[in-house]
Amino acid sequence: MVQETIISPNDFIVPLFIVEGTGIKEEIASMPDYYRYSLDLLKEEVKTLWSMGLKSVLLFVKVPDNLKDNKGTEAINANGLMQRAIKTVKDVAPDMYVMTDVALDPFSSYGHDGIVENGEILNDETAEVLAQMSVSHAQAGADMVAPSDMMDGRILYIREALEEEGFKNTGIMSYSAKYASAFYGPFRDALDSAPGFGDKKTYQMDPANRSEAIRETLMDIDEGADIVMVKPGLCYLDIVRDLKNEVEVPISVYQVSGEYAMLKAAAEKGWLNHDAVMMEQVTAIKRAGADLIASYFAKDVVKLLG
Ligand code: PBG
Repeated sequence: MVQETIISPNDFIVPLFIVEGTGIKEEIASMPDYYRYSLDLLKEEVKTLWSMGLKSVLLFVKVPDNLKDNKGTEAINANGLMQRAIKTVKDVAPDMYVMTDVALDPFSSYGHDGIVENGEILNDETAEVLAQMSVSHAQAGADMVAPSDMMDGRILYIREALEEEGFKNTGIMSYSAKYASAFYGPFRDALDSAPGFGDKKTYQMDPANRSEAIRETLMDIDEGADIVMVKPGLCYLDIVRDLKNEVEVPISVYQVSGEYAMLKAAAEKGWLNHDAVMMEQVTAIKRAGADLIASYFAKDVVKLLG
């Protein structure tokens, strides 16, 4: 009767990893019981999610090395894997809310989120490509684009490009407070997208910073973000609460791959009670102020809710 935080299927965004081919459902080594799907098997998975009451997905594609270059050219291929994946999801579940990852890293020969020149990331040139990528996703049927790259000013580039092309109703979920975190390791295995040189600290945030997260987020809202994000989750719940007190737009939290892997590993060893810890974690994220949670645990949680 007095419980303040209630978890429901509506809280979740389900990240999905997609590969070329047919008949593929391959487990990601560092993410037990999480898979990459080819488009044919993606259909089955999307039907399952929909039947469980999970109504939004966040799509990521694993791109073969021979299609990668410095500018992420493949990202704007109208017939690329992402564009076909969007259509596939909409074919089997027309009302599934489709969000797409917008960043160059899965398409970049350097594994960076931006175009590289002399060892540095070209911010504005990258933002232009991200805007084209967003338009391409909208053309394929995406409901919302989710730029995870952390270039400065890219929300405005994207918003203007979407408006110009007539996609006034396509939303933007900005990864606005994304930290340069070591918790992304398993995700980079999943997409084979680890940076080829250096790290991402010139564009992702220093875990030591707090007010910068507010500044970054306010700028993104000003530029047109509809939903903002804090990423990773558990180590950053103070930031979630700060933002909740500061902004009026919905806040999403990305409970990232490393957070998933930690609990799966400890549970496999019998050191932690998987379900109890999982529920405590998602409840803590929501209690801190998350309106939405992007989580690899979404199906596990909904099954447990019964
Ligand atoms: C890259 C991107 C990353 C994640 C989502 N989008 C990794 C990175 O920044 O290197 C991480 C998600 C996770 O760890 O679950 N644009």
